[in-house]
Amino acid sequence: MLLQVLGTAAGGGLPQWNCACPGCAGARAHPHRRRRHASLAVRVADHRWYVVNAGPDLTDQIEAAPALHPGPGLRDTPVVGVVLTDAELDHTLGIARLREARTGVEVWATPPVRHALLNGLRLGDVLGPYTPLEWRELGPDPQPLGDAIELSALPISAKRPRYAHELPPPPGARDDLSWAVALLLHEPSTGARAVYAPALAAWPDALQKAVEDADCVLVDGTFWDDDEPVRTGISPRTATAMGHLPIDGPDGTAHRLTGIRGRCLYTHLNNTNPLTDPDAAEHTRLTALGLEVAAERMVIEL
Ligand code: MLT
Ligand code: MN
Ligand code: ZN
Repeated sequence: MLLQVLGTAAGGGLPQWNCACPGCAGARAHPHRRRRHASLAVRVADHRWYVVNAGPDLTDQIEAAPALHPGPGLRDTPVVGVVLTDAELDHTLGIARLREARTGVEVWATPPVRHALLNGLRLGDVLGPYTPLEWRELGPDPQPLGDAIELSALPISAKRPRYAHELPPPPGARDDLSWAVALLLHEPSTGARAVYAPALAAWPDALQKAVEDADCVLVDGTFWDDDEPVRTGISPRTATAMGHLPIDGPDGTAHRLTGIRGRCLYTHLNNTNPLTDPDAAEHTRLTALGLEVAAERMVIEL
């Protein structure tokens, strides 16, 4: 299985345009600390890739990843489509950046996520005159993604994006835990397994099993500890209340991931997270637990 990290920051990126926090100032002073919005490319066949979550930086991220460059034909692209873990703006605005697509944009999403994009963002109405959105339903049963990969989604939470808070549910649909999912990627030919979960409001037992089975997990590293958003002044709500289990602490994800067999990488780092500073002491703590922070543009071969 071949994965290409396209970005590792939470909404706003690093630096965020209107933020002078130490993390953002540090990234302005030291460009190698910059992080684009969290996104991952998955190779599903020779010269065919899906992008998992489409952030506002998507087209720059494609330019920074030679495997995703177009050719040999004038408008041939190896980017086949987009898979979504949720409907948050930092994971979906990039779909609009694909409006030049010649034959439509394939989008894999759970029913509530599709509903939010069509009826909250009205992405179908906006993009329709440019290129059609071709919807594929993402669910708990494994489905083929290209030739090489099987994809399934593990329901995590009912946390809606803010723009969809008041959106009436679609007729007949349940308002379920698939507003945010963890993606399970399996390559039957090699047995390789990966988990991608940048928005973890909860840690269901099924997720614990999936991370224990995986060769690599890329998970929500938005906040180091629960109090970080309050302490740094960006929000009156704790990390958990914002839908992101923190890394550290009794309800943190680090202790659940310590000792798992596979490689564990944190992604979707908020600009307030001390891990955005490569010299922070928190890196030593993480390394001691055998856990890592995903690097921009890293390639993971499983
Ligand atoms: C999140 O990760 O919780 C969302 O992206 C929040 C936001 O951007 O409003
Ligand atoms: Mn986010
Ligand atoms: Zn900042």
